[in-house]
Amino acid sequence: MKVLLVGSGGREHALAWALAASERCDHLYCAPGNAGIRECATCVDLGAEDVEGICRFVEEESIDFVVVGPEAPLVLGLADRLKAMGVPVFGPDAKAAQLEGSKGFMKDLCAKYGIPTAAYGRFKDFEEAKAFIEAQPGNVVVKADGLAAGKGVIMCDSKDEAIAAAKEMLEGGSFGAAGAEVVIEEFMDGEELSYFALADGQTILPLTSAQDHKRAFDGDEGPNTGGMGAYSPAHLMTPSLEQAIIETIIKPTVEGMAADGCPFTGVLFAGIMVVDGVPKLLEHNVRFGDPECQTLMMRLQGDLLEVLLAAAQGRLDEARVSWKDEAALCVVMAAKGYPGSYEKNTVIQGVEATAGIDGAKVFHAGTALGADGALLSVGGRVLGVTALGKSIQEAQSQAYKAVDQIHWPGGFCRRDIGWRAIKAAKEAA
Ligand code: AMP
Ligand code: GLY
Repeated sequence: MKVLLVGSGGREHALAWALAASERCDHLYCAPGNAGIRECATCVDLGAEDVEGICRFVEEESIDFVVVGPEAPLVLGLADRLKAMGVPVFGPDAKAAQLEGSKGFMKDLCAKYGIPTAAYGRFKDFEEAKAFIEAQPGNVVVKADGLAAGKGVIMCDSKDEAIAAAKEMLEGGSFGAAGAEVVIEEFMDGEELSYFALADGQTILPLTSAQDHKRAFDGDEGPNTGGMGAYSPAHLMTPSLEQAIIETIIKPTVEGMAADGCPFTGVLFAGIMVVDGVPKLLEHNVRFGDPECQTLMMRLQGDLLEVLLAAAQGRLDEARVSWKDEAALCVVMAAKGYPGSYEKNTVIQGVEATAGIDGAKVFHAGTALGADGALLSVGGRVLGVTALGKSIQEAQSQAYKAVDQIHWPGGFCRRDIGWRAIKAAKEAA
């Protein structure tokens, strides 16, 4: 098969690595890819959101299967276009991508099908939003309805702060069109984890769990980022919690979407808050997490291409996945200054030296090759240094051994990825 993967992040490098290993993959292309993806795919100079360009390429190259990494092209309707061309695609159509593209859409689905989530209201009018905030018994979270690159969620410590946040979104245009409508939610106190499941419109195939670190600095301090590290499985996960997530969140979502005429195909990445042992849905994403995906691909056993194709073709009932017993942990190395402004084109050395570290693998995100062949940083999150281990602690130790081989004065990373899991394991011992 000729396969095209869309995207350029660490998630896509991990997917490319797993897809290229499939016996059924004759040729893998990636649009646009990065310097690491070049090692397992032919990179094509097309942006991930260039729907027209991608469709033209698929036609010209007779691509047999397309896997879409990020959410933006899905929300723009890339999957709709490819399906209309008769090309199987992994990822939901634009209607089903609203599960991530509109927080209000996701919350309304929860309300309709009894999926446990925070109480909420949807507002376009500031005065109505203000009245709702004032009537709430406790603190609230104010969210821009649309895609805001992970920045559209404001956790508020007071009603005044919440009212100001709603005013900025609705009247100040602080998130542009994404904030023209807001969702205001009850604040939930608990512990977070992520759960992944495939769906083919009808059938679900549960995958596994992960946990990420969203804050920029050690101790989960500092600004929110796209994710500074992750590990899988999540230490909070138990068989009964997993069963509850599947039965009360994943299944009713997929069944509800089908009943509402927008069957969901692709991967559901559910952000879960565990409140007194009960899983509640924070958000649905319609793609793999980044860097969660890097840890999932390290643990996956079997053929990723087969499974994603089965989801795309409505044959998920035939598919199986299994996971290594080992844990995986990913440390993100980011450009100094990220998530604020940062320098580009700084030189990274020593990635090859990580090959000597047992169980380690470096996935590239914002990297490119310079004219002289040097590895350069071209983004905020640049490398995902990932390792397997018998425990989270061992995976962490191997991942940091690999990090320490890398010489990149322009970068930084957290030194404590996985700390909650390791602390919990020590307390249990
Ligand atoms: P979201 O993009 O909706 O998942 O929100 C991003 C992050 O904000 C989540 O991972 C949580 O840490 C936090 N968050 C969102 N909604 C709530 C809520 N209702 N209560 C508490 N924390 C929340
Ligand atoms: N790491 C969180 C995300 O991909 O959204």
